Amino acid sequence: MNTKPDASHGKNLAANAPAFLSIWEMESYYGESYIVQNISFNVHEGEILALLGRNGAGKTSTLRSIARMDDPQVTHGEIWLDHVSLHDKSSYEAAQLGIGLVPEDRSIIAGLTVEENLQLAQIAPPIGWSIERLYELFPRLGERRKQEGITLSGGEQQMLAIARALARDIKVLLLDEPYEGLAPVIVDEIEKTLRIIKAQGITTILVEQNAVRALALADRAVILDTGGIVFDGSAAEVLENEELRAEYLAI
Ligand SMILES: Nc1ncnc2c1ncn2[C@@H]1O[C@H](COP(=O)(O)OP(=O)(O)OP(=O)(O)O)[C@@H](O)[C@H]1O
Ligand SMILES: [Mg+2]
Repeated sequence: MNTKPDASHGKNLAANAPAFLSIWEMESYYGESYIVQNISFNVHEGEILALLGRNGAGKTSTLRSIARMDDPQVTHGEIWLDHVSLHDKSSYEAAQLGIGLVPEDRSIIAGLTVEENLQLAQIAPPIGWSIERLYELFPRLGERRKQEGITLSGGEQQMLAIARALARDIKVLLLDEPYEGLAPVIVDEIEKTLRIIKAQGITTILVEQNAVRALALADRAVILDTGGIVFDGSAAEVLENEELRAEYLAI
């Protein structure tokens, strides 16, 4: 077990941040458990980065750390978004600065319709995507606007979760296993939408067990193993590297 280092290290370097979203020597703990182990990587504006690795590698923990959720606690390193440090920010402040986390459980609010779920996510006055624009992006949601959100199918719930993130004025979309449990035809639909979102200039980190699908969409990939980075490069490099695929992705 490593001891927790000084959390002030690396502050005030935001002006030198090398990319749109820069993670620098980030370390996170759940209580005494050292989980995210000194990781550094960059995400360029408008790209899709696949964050891959086996079960328990630390993918969800990395997304939660970037979104500044309370757990795990980031104890060291820096996170810069568009030259602004997220180090001392709360999850609420990180969200206001443009981080949109779509958690694995999708977190649809019970008792509210599709439209009410979207309205609740919007900041007044709306500065993110308008609800009509979201329905253009996800026609299935438009057709079901009066339906209670939690009665949607799994794929529709995933669409609503992504739409809710877009309803705020986000710069970065953090997706935790959006394809989980979905039929290939629905995955196709969501993938198409993620390409449109990318074309609008939004930067995405895509965590997926379905590495083949994720790599087909992503520009670059970072592979985690036991909380550390074992690969950072282009998606094409991963697809060409049989050893890497077999060892860390089982594909
Ligand atoms: N709340 C928690 N308290 C303590 N340890 C945790 C907690 N959440 C996760 N962990 C541990 O942190 C490590 C990384 O978990 P994480 O959920 O980030 O992995 P993951 O790569 O997302 O895995 P999966 O592919 O199964 O979703 C695991 O060893 C896990 O047991
Ligand atoms: Mg996970």
